[in-house]
Amino acid sequence: MSAIIVVGAQWGDEGKGKVTDLIGQDVDYVVKFNGGNNAGHTVVVDGKKYALHLLPAGIINPKATPVIGNGVVIDLDVLFQEIDQMEAEGIDTSRLRISSNAHIIPSYNKIMDKLSERSLGDRLIGTTGRGIGPTYADKMNRIGIRIQDLFDESILRQKVKSALEQKNFTMEKEFGLEPVDVDQVADSLLQYADRVRPMVFDCSLEVNKALDAGKNVLFEAGQATMLDIDHGTYPFVTSSSPTAGGACTGSGVGPTRIDRVVGIAKAYVTRVGEGPFPTELLDQTGEDLRQAGGEFGVTTGRPRRCGWYDAVVARYAARVNGLTDIVLTKLDVLTGYKQIPVCVAYDVDGRRVDEMPADQTSFHHAKPIYEELPGWEEDITGCRRFEELPVNAQAYVRRLEELSACRISVVGVGAGREASIERTALL
Ligand code: GDP
Ligand code: IMO
Ligand code: MG
Repeated sequence: MSAIIVVGAQWGDEGKGKVTDLIGQDVDYVVKFNGGNNAGHTVVVDGKKYALHLLPAGIINPKATPVIGNGVVIDLDVLFQEIDQMEAEGIDTSRLRISSNAHIIPSYNKIMDKLSERSLGDRLIGTTGRGIGPTYADKMNRIGIRIQDLFDESILRQKVKSALEQKNFTMEKEFGLEPVDVDQVADSLLQYADRVRPMVFDCSLEVNKALDAGKNVLFEAGQATMLDIDHGTYPFVTSSSPTAGGACTGSGVGPTRIDRVVGIAKAYVTRVGEGPFPTELLDQTGEDLRQAGGEFGVTTGRPRRCGWYDAVVARYAARVNGLTDIVLTKLDVLTGYKQIPVCVAYDVDGRRVDEMPADQTSFHHAKPIYEELPGWEEDITGCRRFEELPVNAQAYVRRLEELSACRISVVGVGAGREASIERTALL
């Protein structure tokens, strides 16, 4: 039996999809526990590329049961579009299970997401516009709509009505928009009830039973540590808990059942949307990294902001998640640099700071203190054993391991499932 959590150790897009798919070959359940279709995970199998948003990346593995946990927010239009698309690509989605407690993203929350960004003006978050924030806000406000509400029409209509009383007030009075019609929203949700019904299950009960029976369960995060609502760069974060604790609350599994927590980190760093990013490269070097790494969003197509590896962020991720392992992805993208700077600490207003500053002003003022590591010229995409890497690439990984306070168990050298170097087995 093994329960393993996979989380993003930076600002997202670290390659969680690839790693979930890689480890997922040996697991029985893959449970997505947070976020929604703000995520964009790319999985490449035998040269074929799959882009997933709402479905767990584990759906591609024909042996595992993919699960959408209670911590996820679901846009039903997107869910069925993605299911249909996967089926068209030859992926069997019939094993998909959805927690009855997961919340639904109603269409009005996509409007609310955009209105909220508009009213923030130049302080905007740069959200994906998928209605994620307003839906988690409704959940906390206790006016959310859950999957199980689809099966009781009168309750559903009542809940949509109470939520819309607040939303319509904002839309009409603040923005001069037409009010959203209660029945139209309820009808559009109810049309999915029959398709959703056979997928619905008690996530906590089934996943715990699976663990009791000695099965392997992988918990797959969307987003990342630095986008966590509690531990990220608030308010420039998403509205869920992508850190390891979120896997427990987002699925109904207790922390004592977890065996491993794997953080995915790129060999450099990217960020999409607004917010502080100390190692960001605003010059040609950043543009080169973006081109070399193909750093354009899977969800919104936005160019990702790029910068050097930040070991302060990595140490923080190791601490907040209790990481047992790091998977370092995209080492191949760094081929060709003479020197590779790595951020070891920050300079905050003339003071050296070794750990993540606890206050936002210090983090906004943080300037990276770099250590220069020697680069390598050789193409490493064909390497499959650590010893096959050029010595400077090996030294780069070892130094990152030291600085990040966590062992680096796997190194990624390409997008394909096979392009991975295993140093320590993850399962
Ligand atoms: P996720 O959101 O964390 O799943 O990551 P994304 O899929 O949004 O972005 C990661 C991108 O890097 C995808 O295009 C992956 O195919 C690609 N990728 C993952 N690991 C590696 C690697 O080791 N090397 C290279 N070159 N690409 C990788
Ligand atoms: P994956 O799972 C990178 C960012 C958005 C924005 C902020 C809030 O592919 O790593 P939201 O729509 O969630 O309210 O936006 O979070 N963001 C991501 N950035 N990867 C993601 O997912 C992200 N999901 C949200 O760009 O800055
Ligand atoms: Mg992504």
